[in-house]
Amino acid sequence: MSEAGEGSAGDPPLYYGRHVFCCTNTRAPGHPRGCCNEKGAERLRGVLKKRAKELGLTDVRINTAGCLDRCELGPTMVIYPEGVWYTYRDEADVEEILQRHVVGGERVERLMLRPGDDPD
Ligand code: FES
Repeated sequence: MSEAGEGSAGDPPLYYGRHVFCCTNTRAPGHPRGCCNEKGAERLRGVLKKRAKELGLTDVRINTAGCLDRCELGPTMVIYPEGVWYTYRDEADVEEILQRHVVGGERVERLMLRPGDDPD
């Protein structure tokens, strides 16, 4: 049996080279967990999508996602097939994730989320 995150021998080839899910969930003001959209997620997801198009990244898909359940760390995104999570604050962060991870296959360590980063 393969581990989670690993491909299996009979799997079809990837449909997208990279598939990015950006939480743009909105909650009512004052919600204890907050939400990604109150920190600019929808606008920044739009920036990411526009930049991917400008760069002609035809094998990359930028999707809106509902709550990814890491609200306190948001805005959040997760990139597959690697399953690497990021938080980001502004257009410069989005551009760095796009250029280094999505295009270059590198990682942006300073913005990566790890399992232990979540509040208890
Ligand atoms: S609101 Fe974005 S992860 Fe929950």
